[in-house]
Amino acid sequence: MKGQIKVSSDSRISEIDPRLYGSFIEHLGRAVYEGIYQPGNPNADENGYRQDVLAAVRKLNVPIVRYPGGNFVSGYNWEDSVGPKETRPKRLDLAWRSLETNEFGLHEFVKWAEMANSEVNMAVNLGTRGVDAARNVVEYCNFPSGTYWSDLRRKNGAEKPFGIKTWCLGNEMDGPWQIGAKTAQEYGRLANEAAKAMKWVDDSIELVACGSSSMENPTFGSWEETVLDETYDNIDYLSLHRYYGNQENDLQNYLAKSLDLDEFISSVVAICDAVKARKHSKKTINLSMDEWNVWYHSNNQDKEIKPWQVAPPLLEDIYNFEDALLVGCLLITLLKHSDRVKIACLAQLVNVIAPIMTNDQGVWLQSIFYPFMQVSQYGRGVALNTVTKSESYKAKDFDEVPYLESIATLDEEHREISIFAVNRSSKETMDLDFVADGFSNLKLLGATQFCGYDIKATNEDAKMDLQELNEISVDGSVQAKLQPLSWNVIRLGY
Ligand code: AHR
Repeated sequence: MKGQIKVSSDSRISEIDPRLYGSFIEHLGRAVYEGIYQPGNPNADENGYRQDVLAAVRKLNVPIVRYPGGNFVSGYNWEDSVGPKETRPKRLDLAWRSLETNEFGLHEFVKWAEMANSEVNMAVNLGTRGVDAARNVVEYCNFPSGTYWSDLRRKNGAEKPFGIKTWCLGNEMDGPWQIGAKTAQEYGRLANEAAKAMKWVDDSIELVACGSSSMENPTFGSWEETVLDETYDNIDYLSLHRYYGNQENDLQNYLAKSLDLDEFISSVVAICDAVKARKHSKKTINLSMDEWNVWYHSNNQDKEIKPWQVAPPLLEDIYNFEDALLVGCLLITLLKHSDRVKIACLAQLVNVIAPIMTNDQGVWLQSIFYPFMQVSQYGRGVALNTVTKSESYKAKDFDEVPYLESIATLDEEHREISIFAVNRSSKETMDLDFVADGFSNLKLLGATQFCGYDIKATNEDAKMDLQELNEISVDGSVQAKLQPLSWNVIRLGY
C-alpha cells in the first residue's frame, strides 16, 4: 500500500501551545497516595514524593497538570488541605466513595509540580461551593501578601505566591453523577460570577469553563451555547472531555475513533464561533480538552471495590498495544486542531487510567506512555498543514477511514521537522513518501517505530520499547516503510 504526506514551509495550522501535552492528577484511587506520594516507600524522598514516579513524569515532558479533580473537586474544601497535617480533617469523598485524609494538599501539589517541571492547572469547586471559595483560593495562591488568605499561605510556609495561571471553573457540571450538578443556565450564571471575582483578585489568570462532559450527553450543544452566552466575556477556554474504549472488540473501528474526536472538536469550535458571531464579539474562545484517554478496561473490576477506603485501586486500566495506536491517532488529531485546542490533559498521569503505574517496588510504563512521550518531546513549535493520501476503509461507525493518520510539526529554533504517523492497516506495510516544499538539505535525525506486538499485549513485563525504523531513505524527499499496525516518528533536520 502507498501513502503520501506533503507539507510546505509556509502552510501552517498554528503555533502549538505547550499545554497541549498536559496531564491530570486527581484525588482518586492511587493517583496521589501510592502514586506521586508515598511516605516510607524506599523510592520516596524525605517528604514522601516518589522519585521514581517523578523521573518517569519528567520523561513525558508534561508542561501542566490539572488538579485536584475531576469529580472529586465538586465536593472539595480546598481549605482542608492546607496548614499542619495533624489538623487536617478526614472527609468522605462522595465522588469516588473513598476516604480523603488531606495528608496531601495544595502546598504539597505545588511543590510536586515544580519538581516535575510542570505548571498547575487548578480546578475550583462549583458543585457544593461557589464564588467565595473560588476567589479565596485565588487570593491564597496568587496574592503576594498583606491579606488574610495570602498571609495564611505565608504562615503555612510559602512566602512567594504560587502564581497559578490556568484555572478550571468546576468539573463536568452537566453530568448527573456530579456532586452539585447544574443546568446550563445555573452553571453559566455561577461560573460567570466566580470568573469575575477570580479575575478581580488576579487579572492575569486564564479561566476554563465547563463544556459538555461527553458528546452523547443529551444537553450537548445547547449546554455549550448557554454557558458561553452567560460567561463569554469573562472566560478564555471551554472544556471538552472524551474517553474511548474497544468494548465491541473491533480493532478497525476502534482505531478510527480519532475521527470522532476530530468531529467533536470541530463541533465545539463551531458553537464557540456561532456565539462569537451572535455577540458581535472580537474575542475568540479556545478549547481545553482537559480530559482525554482510553478508559474502559477497569470498569467491571471497579464495581467490586468496597467503599470508604483510603486510596483504593480504582480506574486502573491496563493498556494494550491497540490502545497505544489509538492514543497516537488522538494525539495527531489534537495537533491538527492546535489552532483552537490550546490546553489538553491526558487523563490521568499515575495509576488512574494512566501511562505510569506504581507498585511498592517501583514504576512500570504502559503502552500508551510511548506515543505520548514522543509527541510531547518532539511535537513542539508549529503544526504544519499536512496533506495526506492513502487508501481508506469502511468501519462500523465510520464510512471512510484513511489507513494513514499523520501530521508533521516544525521546530524552527532547532531546524527540525517531526513526522508522526500511524499505519492503521493490520495486514499491509505502507510505502510512505514524504515531500516537504520549502525545506532544503533534508537529513535524517532519527526514526523510530512501535510495532510488532500482539494488539492485546500489555507492558507489565516491560517488554515493549521503541524500535529503530531502518527502512528509510532521505534524498530530497523521504521514503519509509511503515509496518502494519505501527506508530512511527521520523525526525528530519533541514
Ligand atoms: O478522569 C476520571 C473522571 O472522568 C473524572 O473525575 C471526571 O471528570 C470524568 O468523568
